[in-house]
Amino acid sequence: MSKLLPGIVGAITLAIVSVAVYIEKQRAKKQLKYQRSSKPFVRIPLNRLPALKNDLVLRAAMNLSTPRVPVWCMRQAGRHLPEFRALREEGYDFFTMCQVPELAVEVSLQPLRRYGVDAVIIFCDILVVPQAMGMEVNMVAGVGPVFAKPLRDPKDIKLLRMNPDVQVELGYVMDALNLARQTINGQVPLIGFCGGPFTLLTYMVEGQGSKTKSKIKTWLYKYPQESHNVLQAITDVCVEFLIAQQQAGAQALQVFETVGAEVLTRDHFYEFAFTYLAQIAARVKDVCPETPLIAFSKGTDYAFERLAETKYDCLGLDWSSDPANVRMRIKNKKALQGNMDPACMYAELPTIQTEVVKMLHNFGTKGYVANFGHGCFPDMDPSHVDTFIKTVQSKSIEMNNQ
Ligand code: CP3
Repeated sequence: MSKLLPGIVGAITLAIVSVAVYIEKQRAKKQLKYQRSSKPFVRIPLNRLPALKNDLVLRAAMNLSTPRVPVWCMRQAGRHLPEFRALREEGYDFFTMCQVPELAVEVSLQPLRRYGVDAVIIFCDILVVPQAMGMEVNMVAGVGPVFAKPLRDPKDIKLLRMNPDVQVELGYVMDALNLARQTINGQVPLIGFCGGPFTLLTYMVEGQGSKTKSKIKTWLYKYPQESHNVLQAITDVCVEFLIAQQQAGAQALQVFETVGAEVLTRDHFYEFAFTYLAQIAARVKDVCPETPLIAFSKGTDYAFERLAETKYDCLGLDWSSDPANVRMRIKNKKALQGNMDPACMYAELPTIQTEVVKMLHNFGTKGYVANFGHGCFPDMDPSHVDTFIKTVQSKSIEMNNQ
């Protein structure tokens, strides 16, 4: 008996701990308002979704005149908003927030409610495409996205799902878009997006943010053919994903080529980034000719002439580009988006207003979607972002009425 006692005590302790953990988990589940539903989401067909009242972003992105300049901010839904941080602190992990449609929609709409921006961008991340291709990505506090097993050398390509079923792997994004359209109720257009293939390959090879990008650069020099093979597979997924987003309710689409291209030689940019960006536009516009398509290629000012030859409707500028110069070089063939230095939000409000007026003069008020030259930073003061938005909206009306 005395020999059996420790075993019995151990078993009872284990049982008590297991029950306690179970109860705690159930309680945690109950406390979280938003849960993944086991019921399939039923998407409403496009022709039964609410009609659009403010189409300024869509018209401007198609290079048409608008009574005033529309404005939204890249990364507008996120950590600079106290209402986003509050939700995050309730215990939702980042990718769960993307995957629960009600939660993704709530976060997507926060900037619309707070600022009255002229477009909502769906809350998601560019790295859901590598996830769909079978890679594990975690969002680590203070670090950003981290891949569990980055592509170390071409042998690892075999582990990728090269031809995933986008509706199966990323159906939750389409559900969120469809629910967002129902909830926005036609107030402003809804933007869908994906990462540029080169940006995605950069993350898949580097495994996390990197200053030198030496791993991806090594791939381009050592394994050019293998790099092309993966880039083509990523491009196929992006094309299918963007079209699916449009069919679920996205009214404009943007490709974020924001990481990696800036460190490339021009030859490498055209060979490994531009080719696939251009291919995305040709294939998506073929299926969705009416949907404005925006390319944001960061750090590649030299490429505007060639980007203007692609099927994109609107080209994004980062803050290092000169809008008047770009307009001249592309002979007004495309609408432009951008390019306020996001760091200007750290300035006093009158400085922000002065810089907005300068920006409006440099771009002109036609065929122009005002935005940042990159995204919102987590430490931005929302009241400064608000001043940026309201100044674009009010000053551009004044300019148009002069
Ligand atoms: O624009 C929006 O408001 C929509 C949502 C959106 C997010 N990421 C949400 C997000 C969009 C469009 C993106 C794009 C994205 N994601 C890009 C391209 C644009 C760019 O800024 O260069 C890139 C490179 C990523 C990858 C990524 N995701 C990074 C580098 C990070 C960490 C750095 C950061 O800004 O937090 C993320 C995390 C991320 N994506 C957050 C949000 C709101 C923060 C997550 C958190 O709460 O911790």
